Amino acid sequence: YFQGVDRYLYHMRLSDDVLLDVMARFQAEMVKGLGRDTNPTATVKMLPSFVRSLPDGSEKGDFLAVDLGGSQFRALEVKVFNDGRQSSQLESKFYPTPKEVIQGSGAELFSYVADCLSDFMESRNLKHKKLPLGFTFSFPCKQTELEEVRFLLSWTKHFKARGVQGTDVASSLRKALQKHKDIDVDVLAMVNDTVGTMMTCGYDDPRCEVGLIIGTGTNACYMEEMRHIDLVEGDEGRMCINTEWGAFGDDGALDDLRTEFDRELDLGSLNPGKQLFEKMISSLYLGELVRLILLKMTKEGLLFNGKVSAALLTKGKIEMKHVSAMEKYKEGLSNTKEILTELNLFPSEDDCIAVQHVCTIVSFRSANLCAAALAAILTRLRENKKLLRLRTTVGIDGGLYKTHPQYPKRLHKVVRRLVPNCDVRFLLSQSGSAKGAAMVTAVAYRLAAQRKQ
Ligand code: GLC
Repeated sequence: YFQGVDRYLYHMRLSDDVLLDVMARFQAEMVKGLGRDTNPTATVKMLPSFVRSLPDGSEKGDFLAVDLGGSQFRALEVKVFNDGRQSSQLESKFYPTPKEVIQGSGAELFSYVADCLSDFMESRNLKHKKLPLGFTFSFPCKQTELEEVRFLLSWTKHFKARGVQGTDVASSLRKALQKHKDIDVDVLAMVNDTVGTMMTCGYDDPRCEVGLIIGTGTNACYMEEMRHIDLVEGDEGRMCINTEWGAFGDDGALDDLRTEFDRELDLGSLNPGKQLFEKMISSLYLGELVRLILLKMTKEGLLFNGKVSAALLTKGKIEMKHVSAMEKYKEGLSNTKEILTELNLFPSEDDCIAVQHVCTIVSFRSANLCAAALAAILTRLRENKKLLRLRTTVGIDGGLYKTHPQYPKRLHKVVRRLVPNCDVRFLLSQSGSAKGAAMVTAVAYRLAAQRKQ
């Protein structure tokens, strides 16, 4: 049974040779995204974040942050202070993001964000205060240094609000906030969740120079040498680049690795042809991939005596949380039986073993691909510094990484195999990427205060 599944999903089991090849392809993509002439046609956009300064420990004050774009929407208050050493205090509240809001009109989306923030400030008794705000917005945005605009290039994941693509998101948020006469907040910084994660982890470990998200979507940022960033003036120092690696493969660069299941999943998604790398990795898609595989195997008589159920035919019926439950060490097999029974399939013992193995292959491929792209970034950092050995820290966040029972171990192991000359510390972001937005805001606030002096 095991071998049957292995043979059936042969194309999803990637050898180290294939992964090294993916790593080389991603290295080439990064160069393409950074080059002035090649950037317009590059799929991996390598977006400059204009974040150059990491927290230096002297920041202080009371900051607000909102975090939009992950599985949950959150408002936070972060107090940064220094009593001998820098520390911070965090209070936050989660709000639902109903489909009507994230797939409705843009104006409604931003006024919802403003409403939630006002509710949060009310509950924290902050309404009388004028406060700076950091906005974690986990989508690809193009920005320029001087004007404080952030153009949304495209929605990704499960978001699709009308009339926002190509417009300035920071100003839409400001406008929505202005309509709230009861609060007085100043949108000082806007960052991608990868950047927020790197900043949060950088606060605890100064060696942190990569931010990685493996959750609803997947993406990474890292510190690049200014001299390599054609799109930004100046050659001194470094700047954080948001790679937007989810779009890797959108030009066909990974077509030889994509399977019929990947193609089918893509066709049924909100953004066909887009974010093809992300669709092989992140939690929004892995459950659906498993469902498509089980459906085909059943139709071919390889599972459940060839009997398909209505549930198995329904899009979205298998979610990441089910995949994680089925892969649990001890309870995995009994969880599998329970989940399949709920889907009105009548699993035999062998069916359960086979399904569990399908889940392992799909989530293992995800960790493998992520590791290959991360290895490319680590190699780039090492070469930029002209080192034979690199010691560095990767800050990580995201539900898939945090809740899947074996994902972290697999990812770490493959990365260490692919880049044996990098000593990597994987640091889980404790308070999430939104605290990073507050930190970026705190840094911006400090710099603005210094300029005024
Ligand atoms: C998607 C977004 C990206 C974000 C990632 C993780 O790939 O395009 O900006 O960082 O999801 O949330």
